[in-house]
Amino acid sequence: MSIRTLDDLLAEGVSGRRVLVRADLNVPLDKQTGDITDDGRIRAVLPTLGALVEAGAKVVVCSHLGRPKGAPDPQFSLSPVAGRLGELLGAPVHFATDTVGESARSTVADLADGQVALLENLRFNAGETSKDEAERGAFADQLAAFGDAYVDDAFGAVHRKHASVFDVSARLPHVAGRLVLREVEVLSKLTGAPERPYVVVLGGSKVSDKLAVIEALLPTVDRLLIGGGMCFTFLKAQGLEVGTSLLEKDMVDTCRNLLERANGKILLPVDVVVADAFAPDAAHDTVRVDGIPSHRLGLDVGPETVAGFSAALSQAKTIFWNGPMGVFEMPAFAAGTRGIAEAITKADAFSVVGGGDSAAAVRALGLDESSFGHISTGGGASLEYLEGKTLPGIAALEN
Ligand code: 3PG
Ligand code: MG
Repeated sequence: MSIRTLDDLLAEGVSGRRVLVRADLNVPLDKQTGDITDDGRIRAVLPTLGALVEAGAKVVVCSHLGRPKGAPDPQFSLSPVAGRLGELLGAPVHFATDTVGESARSTVADLADGQVALLENLRFNAGETSKDEAERGAFADQLAAFGDAYVDDAFGAVHRKHASVFDVSARLPHVAGRLVLREVEVLSKLTGAPERPYVVVLGGSKVSDKLAVIEALLPTVDRLLIGGGMCFTFLKAQGLEVGTSLLEKDMVDTCRNLLERANGKILLPVDVVVADAFAPDAAHDTVRVDGIPSHRLGLDVGPETVAGFSAALSQAKTIFWNGPMGVFEMPAFAAGTRGIAEAITKADAFSVVGGGDSAAAVRALGLDESSFGHISTGGGASLEYLEGKTLPGIAALEN
């Protein structure tokens, strides 16, 4: 892998040069207030931004937020992120109210050495995510005009073949930022020769989202623990009734086939917390998985499951965890996710937490981030890395 790094760029000297940084500042926002509910992704790019500021670069940061449809949409503005980034950097961030228009041009032109600008949401422009290479290229040309060099530090977006992630690299001298390097270094340990036992915990709502990674991991892991909403499709595949729990009917056969091929490596819940409704105050009980009432739905794994999964985790030397075990946002259904997270921190293992949701769960539950080996900023990106897929953003840096 021949990727140039931020240190290579710094060694050339960046004082007075404009450096375009692609970051993944796609942070969760409170639906009512619009406040940032978890600033982990903003903090994760501070090492790269801080180094560039200190070296006297004119730093032009760009990012997407949410999934606007190629046109400005105020609910997805990066404006609150500019404020928080400024607080964390300890210096104002100059916010451009468009991405490549008049505001962006003048904001970039007015930057002094060591100052930071943030452009408005990349996805307010259809060219960012276009499947049409010429349309993407035209947008990449406009972005590239704001930099003399390009730093990709948007690990969470490296699996997207988007203008700011893929096409800009072909237009500017390009390097990987500190976050991208650290993420790749850590994840490559998992795909290389992980110390065994290697135990993976998967949760989240959909089997279909995780199918490719389950296929890729089955031959390599020693144990695969499955919780979260997706466990009910597996339980159904074992012939159990799951009441009104989340169920992907068209995945039942696939799950049965996976279980048959897993040689006992896959561990499923033995008990679950079932509720009358998907609500924080719904009446709920813990039941065995063969006793889920037909009118109730499972919203968390139960204590016996946590004990069983924890026993497997306590033996592990390498752990990867993606996806919550239950609806951790509701305190009544958070014990499973908390229990598994705590078991991971107690294990004498190298542990990696993959994904926006699991990383947010760690922080929302008040767990100590430093007791995990690494908390990835990429959900989809870390899964695709483990699947062994080519990541467009990384591939572009290699050229
Ligand atoms: C993420 O949140 O996974 C990344 O920021 C990528 O966002 P996307 O899935 O909308 O491309
Ligand atoms: Mg990228």
